Formats: sequence, structure tokens, C-alpha cells
Amino acid sequence: MLRHALGLSAWKQFGQSRWSLRVNPSSGNLHPTEAYVLCGPLPGLADHPAVYHYAADGHALELRCVFDDDAWRKGLGERTDVALVALTSIHWREAWKYGERAFRYCQHDLGHAIAAISFAAALVGWRAQLQPAWSHRAIAESSGTGREQDFVEAEPEDPACVIAISSEEAFECSTEMVGQLVQAASGGQWSGHASQLSEDHVTWSFIDEVARATVDPGRIESKARPATSAPLREEPSPVGILKAARDRALDARAILLQRRSAVAFDGRSTIDRDTFAGMLSSVLHGSGPQWNCLWWTPRVHLALFVHRVIDVPPGLYVLIREAGAMNSLRRACRPEFLWEQADERLPLWLLAPTDVRALAARLSCDQGIASDGFFSLGMIADFEASLRTFGPSFYRHLFWETGVVGQTLYLEAEAAGARATGIGCFYDDPVHELLGLRGHTFQSLYHFTVGQPVDDTRLTTGPGYSWEDPQD
Ligand SMILES: Cc1cc2nc3c(=O)[nH]c(=O)nc-3n(C[C@H](O)[C@H](O)[C@H](O)COP(=O)(O)O)c2cc1C
Repeated sequence: MLRHALGLSAWKQFGQSRWSLRVNPSSGNLHPTEAYVLCGPLPGLADHPAVYHYAADGHALELRCVFDDDAWRKGLGERTDVALVALTSIHWREAWKYGERAFRYCQHDLGHAIAAISFAAALVGWRAQLQPAWSHRAIAESSGTGREQDFVEAEPEDPACVIAISSEEAFECSTEMVGQLVQAASGGQWSGHASQLSEDHVTWSFIDEVARATVDPGRIESKARPATSAPLREEPSPVGILKAARDRALDARAILLQRRSAVAFDGRSTIDRDTFAGMLSSVLHGSGPQWNCLWWTPRVHLALFVHRVIDVPPGLYVLIREAGAMNSLRRACRPEFLWEQADERLPLWLLAPTDVRALAARLSCDQGIASDGFFSLGMIADFEASLRTFGPSFYRHLFWETGVVGQTLYLEAEAAGARATGIGCFYDDPVHELLGLRGHTFQSLYHFTVGQPVDDTRLTTGPGYSWEDPQD
């Protein structure tokens, strides 16, 4: 599962330069996301419950802590089919290059990693579910990333989330279980030290402020919650899902490993309407395992710039991923938009039929990939109301959701013989202006594009790991 979620997908080479890519994408290929596995005794791995750090370079688990068996059992009760994956993020890995905007990119990357884990778990028949009961503090304590003595020179890791991987029924950690596991970790035998990336650091105090303001206190189970607060795991109101015709001969593992970001599109190729509709359908709730991983209902909608889709007029469209958001989004947008239903099978609405190529590229920091593909899009989050419902830490979750949407589209594009690219670089305010959005009711959080790639033939590609090289 780890290999097909977070492992290396390839080694690229150009002249003397050689660099690796991973199954999960990352802004600038900087990979701020780290993963820790907390699991019971596993035949072939260890006799005791333990915490491991996943090292993607060697596809290896590095032992960090051995737990006391009883303490672990108290935590997970009878469920021997459950392991936990904790994700953290090292802001500095993005901040040295991107400055303040790095906080967002780290959260996008986490969303991509969450989706990558749920796809890889589904490959082997397991389910992956984000665990809302875990606070950042509990994550830091049980993953060992809160142990300052092991991070003396190293850049700090910011806690993100815990995903439960279960092979049988769904699993949800209670706050009591979390407490037991934290206690087990505090009594465990720890080993190892984190390594340092840079000797010099620039302080981006804004990033630290945002991180502090959005610390997750963990969500407590519904029994202990006031009746007025939102339920722990939300039930979505269904929007239509189109079951796209799939090529059953596709090898899911191969698709996961071949996923890449396009650096350029050909500016000519088209896709047909059904393939386009199938891609959009895949981001609707209930269409794949990645959506069962999230505990909240969709808060992110798509503003689409359609350029080259056969039988779909070029223009600006909106895909509403949660039926209940239709009225508020419509009210928030420019009054002159058409809101014409564009497909009877999908919650897709035409706002303005016009050539949006130049506009799409301009809004995405003049990047040609936003105008030269089949379509590109902005992910519009139902922002203010979501933070009111779930509190400031949900700011992070909104970005995670956009990352899950992005990872889904990356894989859909590969499956269709095309390619996609995440676009973190875009101008927020002009996007809001285009749609007519004011204030913070809705906010554009991530852009994305899909098209026919132009490959750089100067690069050579090798397998992620030498033992997978068919020539060895
Ligand atoms: C959150 C995020 C933002 C990104 N933003 C851009 C972007 O603005 N422009 C671009 O060309 N690529 C962008 N990318 C693509 C990355 O550069 C790419 O994922 C990385 O180089 C790794 O390559 P791979 O996706 O082929 O594994 C983005 C990727 C992610 C995950």
C-alpha cells in the first residue's frame, strides 16, 4: 500500500542531473509530507506494536518506537485488522522556495497524499478513513514528531492527520482510544533522530501564525458533543453520479505509477463529451474510495474553463459537488451568469459561453498549461460557512479536499491517455472578481488543468526502485 501511495514512481535524468518523482505529487517536487505507521505486531515485520517512519527513498520503514503490547491493545481494543498512518508536513521544504504561500502548498500536498493512500488501500481491498478524533497534539506525541530531543537540528514537522487503514469493517478512533495510544507512545522505547535539510533558515512568521491559528484540537464523538454542533462524520446529499464506461483492461497499479504532471500541452487535442463527463463524475462524492476517506461532505466546487471538449461549447462552467450549495453559490456569483444546465447527468452549469483560453492562462500566473489543454479549473471552497461549522482548523481540511479532487483528476487523466497538472500558482482575487465573489463566503483555493501533454524527449526515465528494473 505504501509503495503505491507514497513511494517513488520514477527516476528522471537529463545530462548529469538525476531526480526522483513520487506516486503522490508535490508543488515544486519538494515533498513536505512525511508519513508514520502505527501498527500492532505484523508477521514478517515485528513482534511488537511499533511506530515507523516511512522513508520513500528506499521504500523502507524506519523503526521509531516499540510500544508495550498491553498499552497498544488498550488503545485499539479488539481490532487487530487496523493500522494507523499519521501524516505531517515540513513547511520549510516549501517555504524556502515559495515563501508565505508555502503553507497552502503543504496542505494541497497533504490532500494529494490522503487520496493516494485511499487509492492504494483500495487496491488491496482495504479502506482508509481520516480520523477526526486525533488532535495535532496527539499526532505529535504518538508519531514522535513532538519529541524535540529527536529534532535538534532538523526542521520541525507540523502535525496533519491520522488515517485508519482497516481490512474489515470501517473503523473510527474514539477520543478515549486516542488518549490510550498517546499514553502507550509516552511509555514506549524511542530511537532515531530526524535529519536536517538546511543549515540556514528564513523565518516566515506568517506561516507559523497560520499554523498556530489552525491547530486542530480534534473532534470529540457525537455522544459527548452539544446537540447543536455538526456531526462527526457527515452524510452527503447525493448529486448524480455518472458511471463512466471504464476500460477494464487498465492496470490500476500501472496508472498509479505512471501519473505525472504535464509541463506543456499541445494546444490542439480534444476529448469527447463522455470522457469529460466521466472525469467530472469521478470528483463527485461516492464515486470512489477517496471520498469515503473524508469525514465531511463536499465543500469544494469547480469553476471550469472549457477549451477543447467535443460537443461542449467553450466557456465558463460550474460543477456543484454538493446540492445544498447551489443556491448560496448562485447568489454569491455575478447576476448576469446564465446558469443553464449543461448536462442532464451531472450538476454542471454553463455560466458564460465564450473563449476563456486567454483568461484561464492569465488567472493561473500566465501559465500556458491552463489554456492549452482540454479544460482547466479553479476549486471554489464554501469557505466562511465551513469554518463557522468546524472551526479554524478546517481551513486545512478545505485544502486537503482540493488535493483529493486534484489527485482524482490526475489519475482520471492518465486513465484517459491524457495528463494533468496541479496549479498552485494563480491570482486569487482576480478569480473571485471574475465570478463576482465578494468577502470570504467562497474562496478559490487551487487550480488544475487537463490536456494532451507534449513530452520532453531529452529526459530519460528509470523505475522508482532498482529492484523493479526489468533489465536487472
Ligand atoms: C499543490 C501543487 C501545486 C502545483 N503547482 C504547479 C504550478 O503552478 N505549475 C506547474 O507547472 N506545476 C505545478 N505543480 C506540479 C508539480 O510541479 C509536480 O507535481 C512536481 O514537479 C512533481 O512531478 P510529478 O507530479 O510529475 O510527480 C503543482 C503540484 C502540486 C501538487
